[in-house]
Order: sequence, then structure tokens, then C-alpha cells
Amino acid sequence: MKFFADTADIADITELAATGLLDGVTTNPSLIHKSGRKFVEVVAEICKLTDGPVSAEVVALDHPTMMKEAEILRKIADNVCIKVPLTIDGLKTCKALSDEGTMVNVTLCFSANQALLAAKAGATFISPFVGRHDDNGFDGMKLIEDIRLIYDNYAFETEILVASVRHPIHVLEAAKIGADVMTAPPAVIKALFNHVLTDKGIAGFLADWEKTGQTIV
Ligand code: E4P
Repeated sequence: MKFFADTADIADITELAATGLLDGVTTNPSLIHKSGRKFVEVVAEICKLTDGPVSAEVVALDHPTMMKEAEILRKIADNVCIKVPLTIDGLKTCKALSDEGTMVNVTLCFSANQALLAAKAGATFISPFVGRHDDNGFDGMKLIEDIRLIYDNYAFETEILVASVRHPIHVLEAAKIGADVMTAPPAVIKALFNHVLTDKGIAGFLADWEKTGQTIV
């Protein structure tokens, strides 16, 4: 499963890139706001930190203006992936951009039928929001299971990008289902390293090592 970082924070992206874990980045208007940076500038900077897809979201609601915005965004770098909402105009934009060979991430997906529509429109990625689904009393991982089944039934190439990931269990469940990608805030990716027995093991080994009186360097 590929790991994307769901952030526009350059320091966090730089740190994750150094671990070799980073396969791409997703941003959205809220994350751009949080970064306090100019949209085009920060996306350009992120694109230099990873060879993987970097999602940049259009904000227009109509197809012609979405295309104009996408035109500006896709010129930033070859690895920009245009993010569009799951609406009729969003999918018209998805179809037009995909036909031209531009990567498209269809976002704000909350049903398997919506995911089916996005695949038929040629989406590179579909982004079902599991956390927001759970928050509203639905089962986010059931949605991922349903999309996996449907995409496999028809051999759609659209990749399932599990979004709105809130904790390590979301990552585990998404991987068990066979999602292609997950995007998570850096704090959730870092939490995957944590285990009390790892910490306890290190402490025990270091205590015994100290008793040997040796050094390696
Ligand atoms: C990803 O592309 C989405 O922008 C993101 O995962 C949304 O997450 P949230 O529900 O935590 O805002």
C-alpha cells in the first residue's frame, strides 16, 4: 500500500521523505489555509520533495472554470494530480483531464456508487473519506470493502486512496482490505512506529549495554 502524506507542511513532508515511506502528498483548501502559504508556491515546493503524485484541488464548482484552474495547477510540475469534487462538473473535468493524460484524484467520495462513477470517468484515484464517514455514524471501512469489490469485479484501474484517516487502525484495516493508497496526517504515519514493547526492548538492551562499559564509535 502506498503512503501519501495529507498535509501542506514542508517540514513534515521533508522528514517523511527522508524515511523512504513517502509515495506522494495530498492537499486540500483547508490544509493550504493551515499552511499559511500561497497555494501555487507551496504545491511547487512539495512537488520537489517527492516524485509521487501531489494532489492540488480546484475550488470552482463549474466545469469550464475547473478546467481553467486545472490548467494553472498542472503547469506547476509533472507530478501534480488535479483533485476534483465528486459532482457532475467534477467528473466532466475528470474525464477531460484524464483523456489528456493528467492524473486526477476524485475527492469527497462517500458511497460506493460515487466511486463507480469516478472510475467510469477515468479517475486515477478515488478518495473515500473514512474518518468523516465514521464521524457520521457510517462504517468507513465497509465503504472501502465495497469499492474494492466493485473495482475488482470490473478490473477498473482507478486506485482506491483511503482518505480522512484518523488513526493507525484505519491504516491497518485499509491494508487488509487491499486499498491501493492511504493518505494520513504526518502524526498518524509517525504513530505507526509506536509500540510499547519496542520502547521497552530498547531500554532493556541499552541498560545491559551500559553495563558492558563498551562503545561502538
Ligand atoms: C484527503 O485528500 C483529504 O483532503 C483528507 O484526508 C480529509 O481529511 P479530514 O476529514 O481529516 O479533513
